[in-house]
Amino acid sequence: RTFSSQAEPIRVLVTGAAGQIAYSLLYSIAKGDVFGKDQPIILVLLDIPPMLPVVDGVVMELQDCALPLLREVIPTADEAVGFKDLDAAILVGSMPRREGMERKDLLKANVAIFKAQGGALEKYAKKTVKVLVVGNPANTNCLIAAKSAPSIPKENFSCLTRLDHNRASSQVAMRCGVSSDSVKNVIIWGNHSSTQYPDVHHAKVNVNGAEMGAYDAVKDDAWLHGDFISTVQLRGAAVIKARKLSSAMSAAKAICDHMRDIWFGTKEGEFISMGVYAAGNSYGIAEDLIYSFPIQIKNKTWKIVDGLSINDFSRAKMDATAAELVEERDTALDFLSQ
Ligand code: NAD
Ligand code: LMR
Repeated sequence: RTFSSQAEPIRVLVTGAAGQIAYSLLYSIAKGDVFGKDQPIILVLLDIPPMLPVVDGVVMELQDCALPLLREVIPTADEAVGFKDLDAAILVGSMPRREGMERKDLLKANVAIFKAQGGALEKYAKKTVKVLVVGNPANTNCLIAAKSAPSIPKENFSCLTRLDHNRASSQVAMRCGVSSDSVKNVIIWGNHSSTQYPDVHHAKVNVNGAEMGAYDAVKDDAWLHGDFISTVQLRGAAVIKARKLSSAMSAAKAICDHMRDIWFGTKEGEFISMGVYAAGNSYGIAEDLIYSFPIQIKNKTWKIVDGLSINDFSRAKMDATAAELVEERDTALDFLSQ
């Protein structure tokens, strides 16, 4: 057999493979948009046993895409197969929130899943595996998975707040009448929930070739402190109300952005948002939480951007979302000890 790329394939797991996010995500991964145009891929698709017939349909479609980088697709409901020798794990599978449901309602069902999958990572995956948790409540699920895989560095775990980050960039871009790539360095602090704090104090907007702070570009502090924040905080619920399903296309796009940045690094002078392990030494946020910070990535290693000035308005919002995460963590640990 001959292949267009001779590189060793990497093994990438997507859980919830029969679901709607996976359906929007798998094509981009398999065609090289995330791990590179020369990187062959073995895709492992995990879902629960009753969904395997649906996963088989997804496998057929991936085959029918005739993508040269896709070496193999492995459908499974068996954790020993699904988590074996992984280079990357994208943990999407969980029970999604329906209209009217609070994210906390999901906590009990979902932390049990992420405890089991953390255990499977510990047992079967490479110790270098990069794990991205998407299933909600994403931050707390990620913390539970990391705690359940003690021999894998906590730094290898992150959760998705890039969708919120992209939502915030896009809102500012639309308000200024510029393209979304003219906005950089927005920050999502904290939880992927309605307490998150979308912060543009350090964001830059390129307006007709002139780079300026977001407050100068928008020229409407009341909007930035009011509707802008609540629109981003409540966007997930608004999409659910409209679609009767949670966001999928935009979530898949954000997953690609997040993983591509882990693999290839962030752009010089720019930062993005992701939920990472808080060690208790950044911006006064308590340790042992997965908290979304401004992040730069180089050589597959992230660091929190230090030293940004924080005013009282921001401080209060950063602390409120941290408090929610502490409560979520303690509730999750209670559930798991019962
Ligand atoms: P979906 O219901 O369409 O698909 C979920 C899939 O996960 C289903 O096929 C289900 O069978 C599977 N699943 C359930 N338990 C599993 C397990 N133990 N192992 C493997 N697979 C399992 O949902 P979706 O729209 O794809 O959303 C998936 C998750 O992503 C939800 O929790 C949703 O709330 C979350 N989400 C997060 C973000 C974010 O930005 N962090 C954005 C959108 C959605
Ligand atoms: C989103 O932000 O779109 C989702 O996380 C909403 C949800 O709760 O599924």
